[in-house]
Amino acid sequence: MALIAKKIKGTEDILPRDSYKWQFVEKVLSEEAKVYGFSEIRTPVFEQTKLFQRGVGEGTDVVQKEMYTFETKGGESLTLRPEGTAGAARALLEHGLYNDGLPIKAHYFTTCYRYEKPQAGRQREFHQFGMEVYGAADPIADAELICAAKSIFDRLQLFDVRLELNSIGCPRCRKNYHQALKEYFAQFSDTLCATCMSRLEKNPMRILDCKSPVCKEIAQNAPKITDFLCESCDDHFKKVQNYLTAADIKFTVNPSIVRGLDYYTNTVFEFISDSIGAQSTVCGGGRYNGLIEELGGNPLPSLGFAIGLERLLMVMEAEGIEIPTPDTCALYIATMGEGAQREAFRIVKTLREAGLEAQFDIVGRGLKAQMKYANKIGAQFSMVLGDNEIDTKSAKLKNMKDSTETEISLGESFMEEFFSALIAEENGLNKAD
Ligand code: HAM
Repeated sequence: MALIAKKIKGTEDILPRDSYKWQFVEKVLSEEAKVYGFSEIRTPVFEQTKLFQRGVGEGTDVVQKEMYTFETKGGESLTLRPEGTAGAARALLEHGLYNDGLPIKAHYFTTCYRYEKPQAGRQREFHQFGMEVYGAADPIADAELICAAKSIFDRLQLFDVRLELNSIGCPRCRKNYHQALKEYFAQFSDTLCATCMSRLEKNPMRILDCKSPVCKEIAQNAPKITDFLCESCDDHFKKVQNYLTAADIKFTVNPSIVRGLDYYTNTVFEFISDSIGAQSTVCGGGRYNGLIEELGGNPLPSLGFAIGLERLLMVMEAEGIEIPTPDTCALYIATMGEGAQREAFRIVKTLREAGLEAQFDIVGRGLKAQMKYANKIGAQFSMVLGDNEIDTKSAKLKNMKDSTETEISLGESFMEEFFSALIAEENGLNKAD
C-alpha cells in the first residue's frame, strides 16, 4: 500500500480500541475538578505569539526552541499553544472573568505543541489537563490545589506518584539569588553549553533545568533558592508545608525544582513517577503571582498545574491499573434478505432509543460473516432474522457467551423480553447456570 500521507513525527493517533481509556481518565479528572469547584474553560489552539513570549518567557526553552510559530497571510505571527496557562490567563483578562467574584477556578483539557525530540512520554503534540486558580494569595490555596492533584492520583490508585515541592520566591528574593547563581556558573564558563552561556547574564535560573548532562552536573552544586527566600516568601512556603502535613499529604522539598517556564513565583511542585522512565514528571505546576500583570491586567495572585495525559496513562499501564472496558453491544441482529434487514433496522432503533448499543448488518454480508462480526464486537446477544422469523413474529435470541437460545417475540413484548434476558445475563442467571 502506498499511503499518500503519514502522521507527523511526535504525534499519536488515539484509536477506537484505546479511546475508552482516555474517556475514563477524562471522566475522573472532570469529576475531581467539579468537587473542587472548577469549571471548564476552552481556549483556541493558536494564539498571538507575543502571548507566549511574554507569558511563558523569552528565555525559556519552550519559547526559544520549541514553539510552532507561523505567519498568517495577513502577516501576523501566531503560535500553536505550547501549554494551557497563558491562553487561560488571556481569556480571563479579555472577558473580565475576575469581576465574577474571586477566586476564579478553571480547568481545561488541551492539546499542546512543542518541538521537542520525541521519546517515550515526550511528544510534539500531547494532551494536558490543567487546573488554574485566580485571585488567591493565601498559602492555603497552594495546599488546596496540590490536594486536588493528589486526589486525582489517589482516585486513579496511583499511590506511588510522589510529590516534590520547592519555592522559587518572588522577584525580590530572586535578585540576590540570580547574583549568586551568576557568580557560581561564571566559574564554569568554558564548560557550560552555548544556550546556558547566553542565559548566564539574563536568566541564570534557566541553567538549572538545562537538559545537557554537563550543565546538569554543574547545576547540582549550585546555590539553592531556599537559602535566598525573603521573610514573606519563606513564611508562605512554610505555611504551605504545614497545611500539606496537616492534610496528611506527603512531600519532599527538592530545591532543584525550578520549572521550565518563567511565570512561576513562590511555590512550585511536581508529581513524579518512577515507573515510566526518563520523562517522569506527570504533573507540574505552581504559583504565578506576576503573570496576569505581565499580560496587561491588574496584579492577581494565581496558581495552577497541568497533568500530561499521555504520561498519566503510561503510569497507569505500568502500575497495572485496570481501566473498566465499556459495555459491549447488547444485541447484534444478523439478517437474511431485505425484509429482515428492514425489520432489524426497526428493532435496533427501538433499542438505541432505550439507550442500548444494538447493531445489525449494514454491509450485506453472508450469515456466517455476520455472526463472526457479532463475536468480534463482543455482542452479548445475537438474533438471526429471515423470512420465517418475520412471518411468525418470533426469533431465537442467542446468548453469545454460552450459546444458549431462547425464543423471543418480535411483537409488542420484544423490549420487555429482551430486557429480562439482559438482566438475567448480567446477574449471572442465564440458562447455562
Ligand atoms: P509543564 O511542566 O511544561 O507545565 O507541563 C505539564 C505536564 O505536561 C508535564 O508534567 C508533562 O506531564 C506534560 N508534558 C510536557 N511536555 C510534554 C511533552 N512534550 N510530551 C508529553 N507530555 C508533556 C505547564 O505546561 C504549565 N502550564 C503547568 C501549569 C499550569 N502551571 C500552572 N498552571
